[in-house]
Amino acid sequence: MRVRMALHTGAAEEQGGDYFGPPLNRVARLLSAAHGGQVLLSLPTQELVRDVLPLDSELRDLGEHRLKDLARPERVYQLVAPDLPADFPSLRTLESRPNNLPMQPTLLVGREREVEDVRGRLLAPEVRLLTLTGPGGTGKSRLALQSAADLIEEFEDGVFFVALATLTDHTLVTSSVAQVLGVRESGDQPLLEGIKDYLQDKRLLLVLDNFEQVLEAAPQAGEILSAAPRLKVLATSRIPLGIYGEREYAVPPLAIPDPKRLPTLEVLSQYEAVRLFIERAEATKAGFEITSENAPAVAEICARLDGLPLAIELAAARIKLLPPSSILARLTNRLKLLTGGARDLPERQRTLRGAIEWSHTLLDEGEKTLFARMAIFSGGRTLEAIEAVCDAQGDLPMDAFDGVSSLVDKSLLRQEEGPEGEPRFMMLETIHEYAREKLRESGEAEEIGHAHARHFLGLAEEAELTGPEQAWWLERLEAEHDNLRTTLARTRRPGVGTQVGRRAPVLLVPARALERGARMAGGGTGGERRGLGAGEGARGAGETGSGARGPRAGGDGCGRGTGAPQGAGRRMGRR
Ligand SMILES: Nc1ncnc2c1ncn2[C@@H]1O[C@H](COP(=O)(O)OP(=O)(O)OP(=O)(O)O)[C@@H](O)[C@H]1O
Ligand SMILES: [Mg+2]
Repeated sequence: MRVRMALHTGAAEEQGGDYFGPPLNRVARLLSAAHGGQVLLSLPTQELVRDVLPLDSELRDLGEHRLKDLARPERVYQLVAPDLPADFPSLRTLESRPNNLPMQPTLLVGREREVEDVRGRLLAPEVRLLTLTGPGGTGKSRLALQSAADLIEEFEDGVFFVALATLTDHTLVTSSVAQVLGVRESGDQPLLEGIKDYLQDKRLLLVLDNFEQVLEAAPQAGEILSAAPRLKVLATSRIPLGIYGEREYAVPPLAIPDPKRLPTLEVLSQYEAVRLFIERAEATKAGFEITSENAPAVAEICARLDGLPLAIELAAARIKLLPPSSILARLTNRLKLLTGGARDLPERQRTLRGAIEWSHTLLDEGEKTLFARMAIFSGGRTLEAIEAVCDAQGDLPMDAFDGVSSLVDKSLLRQEEGPEGEPRFMMLETIHEYAREKLRESGEAEEIGHAHARHFLGLAEEAELTGPEQAWWLERLEAEHDNLRTTLARTRRPGVGTQVGRRAPVLLVPARALERGARMAGGGTGGERRGLGAGEGARGAGETGSGARGPRAGGDGCGRGTGAPQGAGRRMGRR
């Protein structure tokens, strides 16, 4: 038997004779990248042993690799020793197949059984479309991404993630899919036909995320599946797609303990919901520990929040100032208040709404104003755009930079990396929906909408689409694709200020440039750009934190930080 080995070094927790913690997940992932007979080491371990190796052994640097946990890339070394084989096929990592799976800012907690279930179901020969369903914040997207990463070796033509959360116009689904796959319009052939041709002999997994936004496009998904017999689709949606042959998998919440019959601390922290709380709390507050004193409150919080990951993240984000018992007391009050008005919502949705509302009530006035105003963006925002749009009149009651840092800390915003490492700030869809509601209630929606339009019209006017900076500008416009499209729609609305309306044609310039870029880009799955869909409908929808759009998302880092936005200059000017 050829044994494989993986060595990694990090602090693990010992509980009940077993070990837990992120380093264990990492080493398991490293092991799964190895072949029989191969010994792999991570960088921390390499640093510890490199000077004490036997003379006839050495460590071969295999370079950086993305392991299947979707975390940051890891430098991997291989032990080369006299009695071991030295040459192996390439490592079984994410790079082994084409994909655009986005990196995740945090490690997945638990879900081993669910990933296995999804895998088993999707690989059954009769299953072509599997839809993960459940209310907002249950962890559908996270589960889909991890399942897709784990399935990568089964799909020789790759695994591709299409974020649909920012679309409300179902006609844009085909162009989003085409863009991710690198299929371009050719001649008179409709894009859908192009996609069908491209996929007809491919063994590929397509992940369609947040399909509930575009349910009317379900028949197109069905058509693509019929045309491509080896294709499989993994969808996430709050509502099933309702097409022939669809299988549904209702994503369960994370496992919660019964607060009335509390187990020992060891057992307690093995419940997924409790582990998620602990991991988020540790990331927020160094030195946070679960103790016999705070355990009952933590267990009760997780139970009150029905094991909903998003709700637990929001609660744990407050640990810096509030001990678990205070979080519990305030949360319970908020959830009680909520049962009045929102009785018609399904129970878990009501809980999530309560958690978001609770987190919102703890913001100060300045943060509340900024939070609502930021809803105007779609597909993310840079710090520069936030300052320009949310403080256009200089009346934001706080410094925008401080406000953004604070909202990142509170898990209401997440930080990702845009072109050239510039931070972009995203809202998970459920939170974006709530922010939009707050913006509508504030009565400022129109004014902020104009500020948004002015800013992006300005960007379009400033863009230099010929000359040495062309590539840089195209990348920047592509990152702002959703905001530009929203602006285009807004400038066409009746009643829009004439000043803004008159400037609208400038948007057609980047639209054409992005389309040209798409046509010029090389084949395969990279480098394509989309036009703005100038003739297509409007939308003012949300975005997703795990939003991979197109090839760029594949390698991007997301550094959700506690503390100030990382790498953010106060103003991100041009290079
Ligand atoms: N098992 C998990 N481990 C760690 N974090 C998780 C886990 N499941 C979900 N999360 C986190 O919880 C949040 C909500 O999860 P996710 O976005 O997957 O929910 P969703 O069901 O797709 O929501 P929506 O319907 O709004 O798209 C995210 O921040 C995600 O990273
Ligand atoms: Mg989702």
